[in-house]
Amino acid sequence: MSVTIAVLSQKGGTGKTTTVRSLADVLVRTGLDVLAIDADPQGNLSDYFDVDPAAEPTLADVLAGQARASDAVHGAVVPANLGLAESELVLAGKIGREVTMRNALRELKRRHDLILIDCPPTLGLLTVNALVASTHALMSTQAQHFSLQGVEQAMEVFDLARETLNPELELLGVLLNIANMRTRHARQTLEALEERFPEKVFNTVIRQSIAYAESAERARPILDYRPERGADYIALAGEVLERLGMSDRARRLEQVRRDTLPPRLLA
Ligand SMILES: Nc1ncnc2c1ncn2[C@@H]1O[C@H](COP(=O)(O)OP(=O)(O)OP(=O)(O)O)[C@@H](O)[C@H]1O
Ligand SMILES: [Mg+2]
Repeated sequence: MSVTIAVLSQKGGTGKTTTVRSLADVLVRTGLDVLAIDADPQGNLSDYFDVDPAAEPTLADVLAGQARASDAVHGAVVPANLGLAESELVLAGKIGREVTMRNALRELKRRHDLILIDCPPTLGLLTVNALVASTHALMSTQAQHFSLQGVEQAMEVFDLARETLNPELELLGVLLNIANMRTRHARQTLEALEERFPEKVFNTVIRQSIAYAESAERARPILDYRPERGADYIALAGEVLERLGMSDRARRLEQVRRDTLPPRLLA
């Protein structure tokens, strides 16, 4: 069974793109064939994958029915640019507007073990399309005021997608991202999330570090750029694989850890 995970949040800057880039990298290192989809007109994920900004076709062309999805794969990503904002508007006026991405990605699902979709920072039509095209959703949230409400709102859209067009959709988990656990606020947010979404909050918290912005700027995944910072995403990948029932893959992460992390972190 191929797995498609939509990474979403109700608001911007919660680490979605970084999570997609980093998870894709770690999961590839376990031997999985992973494809990432940039469903955000900002194109941050495409930049992180170092795709030429002029690369064509993009997700916009695929959703507009002007290109085949397989032709829009550049390296390991289907990129996006501002043109996607326009195709979202065009999509809005069409019959079947919520299932367009699902239909377009069908052939790619057969070719790849796992697809990760980076959603835009809104709960609009692109995010709905991503949820309808996915088997799982991963909610990213930052410890900020109203972050619980943000997750609730994202959950409403998740429920809507499941109740109407995608009954198979599962909540993979809720991730506390870009967190400084030395602050009481972050610890309280984690507690509140665990209380509200029992069993669903990942044990792994992605810690705050400037290294992520630098790694994005250099278009290099965190394990390449700053291996010692990659431990959080290796741990998260382990939880993701366990939740997907892929324990044998999760066991391969031990080797990934040994190959990448500095000795002092391997204890
Ligand atoms: N763990 C982290 N610690 C510190 N900064 C981070 C971390 N993860 C990501 N960042 C930085 O925070 C900013 C927002 O991250 P990112 O782009 O991944 O979020 P996003 O949810 O995709 O944003 P948007 O909603 O705009 O698409 C970026 O500058 C990124 O480099
Ligand atoms: Mg993003």
